[in-house]
Amino acid sequence: MNSIYLDYAAATPMAPEVREAMTPYFSEHFYNPSATNLAAKAVKKDIEAARQQVAGWLGARPAEIVFTAGGTEANNLAINGVMQQFPGKKMLMSAIEHESVIAPANQYESEEVPVLPDGTLDIKVLDKLIDDDTVLISVMYANNEMGTIQPIKEAAKLIADARSKRQKSGNKLPIYLHTDACQAAAYLDLHTSRLGVDMMTINAGKIYGPKQVGALYVKTGTKLKSQILGGGQERNQRSGTENVAGIIGFAAALDLVQNRRHEEAKRLQELRDLFFHGLTREMVINGSLSRRLPNNVHITIPGQDNERLIMSLDELGIICAAGSACSASKEEASHVLKAIGKTEDEAYSSLRFTLGRQTTKNDIQKTVQILSQLV
Ligand SMILES: Cc1ncc(COP(=O)(O)O)c(C=O)c1O
Repeated sequence: MNSIYLDYAAATPMAPEVREAMTPYFSEHFYNPSATNLAAKAVKKDIEAARQQVAGWLGARPAEIVFTAGGTEANNLAINGVMQQFPGKKMLMSAIEHESVIAPANQYESEEVPVLPDGTLDIKVLDKLIDDDTVLISVMYANNEMGTIQPIKEAAKLIADARSKRQKSGNKLPIYLHTDACQAAAYLDLHTSRLGVDMMTINAGKIYGPKQVGALYVKTGTKLKSQILGGGQERNQRSGTENVAGIIGFAAALDLVQNRRHEEAKRLQELRDLFFHGLTREMVINGSLSRRLPNNVHITIPGQDNERLIMSLDELGIICAAGSACSASKEEASHVLKAIGKTEDEAYSSLRFTLGRQTTKNDIQKTVQILSQLV
């Protein structure tokens, strides 16, 4: 890479170890894992080993892992799956969720829970909004634009309280907590019972693995309507011949990031802080500094047009983003920035730099220097 790539929240380059783990499954181990021949059974066994690896990091049982074609599908499965199982019931979500949560949620009775100006969920409002008909709450683990880490454990506690109240009052409706951990998986603890979640979305494309593969953790007992029907793979929860190479690569990628997460977080946080120190007075950092992913720099530069800045930076060899990759091509201002009280003008003057494995101190020094020259 000749350019300085600072858009790791959009995509991560595949780790060589991941590619190596995947390669045999494109050729010599090409068999359909559902076939009954011995070679196919061996492939099936490898998928189950990968499932166990993923489950291990999530503190889950292997049977609680449903492999999907990425984060979007896992989020759709969680939301459509629960809401179609309990028609007429309600869901709550944070106001800063990814589009792959918001869009399915908008098909049902759903309400957004506001965030505080620092970009973290307003837990008091969440508490007030949970009522007898709430069946699902979706709060992302870390936001894809500002990198703010959400109070999942606190939300889980509220839900546990709601559950015990329902038990006493005889309300049989379950209440589930789902978290989209796509941006968090490289840096945070994913242990689902420590977090207190019933469902968790992760994907490989953000953790130096392949795109179009991910998983939904579904806690045993969670009632979910299957969305992709067919041959009954993934314990009937997601039919279709398994993306074998993808699943193997996903497990290898998760192993790599989780094994290195503490040292990598420390390294990136130092680089991130170096970036922050290099900002000029007029640049405003968005989102909490303390509850934030170690690799995220999100700033507003008043009076600047972010699209133009991104293009100029790109021409000078620096790749960054306006917001999420998915909203980059949309005309609308970021709903995440609106949720923290930014005006449209401020939203259009905001930039996201996300650091990763290949980022060096020199990259950051150069970026800061070029950015201050440009504005
Ligand atoms: C927080 C979050 N959720 C979900 C997704 C969607 O994942 P995928 O691209 O694997 O469908 C992304 C990726 O942009 C994301 O950042």
